[in-house]
Amino acid sequence: MPLITFVEPDGTRRDVSARPGESLMVAATRANVAGIIAECGGSAMCATCHCYLVEGTLPEAEALEAETIEFVAQNTRATSRLTCQITATAAMDGVVLEVAPR
Ligand code: FES
Repeated sequence: MPLITFVEPDGTRRDVSARPGESLMVAATRANVAGIIAECGGSAMCATCHCYLVEGTLPEAEALEAETIEFVAQNTRATSRLTCQITATAAMDGVVLEVAPR
């Protein structure tokens, strides 16, 4: 299982094992990562799973994710991602994501 590091709003680094096929949001909420709320349950509507990619590579965001980042998310950066829209794969081992402030 890929190990994803989430940097919580207070700077705490949390290493989370993600099951291939689940979203990174689901992995984060299972591990109680601070700041990942996931109010909409993973349907790309709330942006409360917003993180910044710090290290590693991820597949490009699809249109729905990009639109929600543009119109709903706050404090966006070029590296903004919605973790509910990212499906874990073995290739993501070592990815580091910083939880966005809200
Ligand atoms: Fe709502 Fe990701 S959980 S946008």
